[in-house]
Amino acid sequence: MARTFFVGGNFKLNGTKQSIKEIVDRINEASLANDVEVVLCPPAPYLDYAAGLVAKSQVTVGAQNAYVKGAGAYTGENSVEQIKDVGAKWVILGHSERRTLFGEDDKLVAEKTKFALDQGLGVILCIGETLEEKKAGTTLKVVETQLTAVIDQVKDWSNVVVAYEPVWAIGTGLAATPEDAQDIHAHIREFLSAKLGADVAEKTRILYGGSANGKNAVTFKDKKDVDGFLVGGASLKPEFVDIVNSRN
Ligand code: G3H
Repeated sequence: MARTFFVGGNFKLNGTKQSIKEIVDRINEASLANDVEVVLCPPAPYLDYAAGLVAKSQVTVGAQNAYVKGAGAYTGENSVEQIKDVGAKWVILGHSERRTLFGEDDKLVAEKTKFALDQGLGVILCIGETLEEKKAGTTLKVVETQLTAVIDQVKDWSNVVVAYEPVWAIGTGLAATPEDAQDIHAHIREFLSAKLGADVAEKTRILYGGSANGKNAVTFKDKKDVDGFLVGGASLKPEFVDIVNSRN
């Protein structure tokens, strides 16, 4: 079964109503390949606005974070119910910036993932090693540990997309080579197969993230375990359309 190519745009803490309208308009007006799913993830204050602007069925909106509780006295948090209420379909969880800057550990990421899935949001689950971990040769161990925390809590992976994002490649202009990404993606798939079964592993999309751009995306084209991209900086620019269309 072919996995549908998936491209997420993580705007991070960037944008205004005007710039977000420009980005969404560009996607609405672009000629996109039919067999690609696009998820635009603006900052939370613009989720409702962006969801209202999207005019293509293959494009949806996602949040960049969600809390592990539905509602209540949790000042400053994003509720899964509210994310859904404004029309968003996905949430990014476990991003390295959440792990590093906001102290989110594997356990919390797993709890958030389970909660969001149980409430009906799709989850883009980010994993990946730091430069120190890469140098120490522990990349595979790191991603296995990050995945295991979620596997222990989540048995239905049909609404999970894994994003392998080596931390050293994020925002640096130094993307992983397609060959290295393929090797690690293949390992992730084997690990999912061993823990969750071959069917789940075969169906789960594994994205690459980290300095993906309009030029290098096409070089991943023949990598069979790279099912798309999670894009940061380039998702704000016109080249995002080239990434979305890079498989064709
Ligand atoms: O979520 C996206 C990643 O952090 C990649 O960001 O494309 O700016 O390197 P980047």
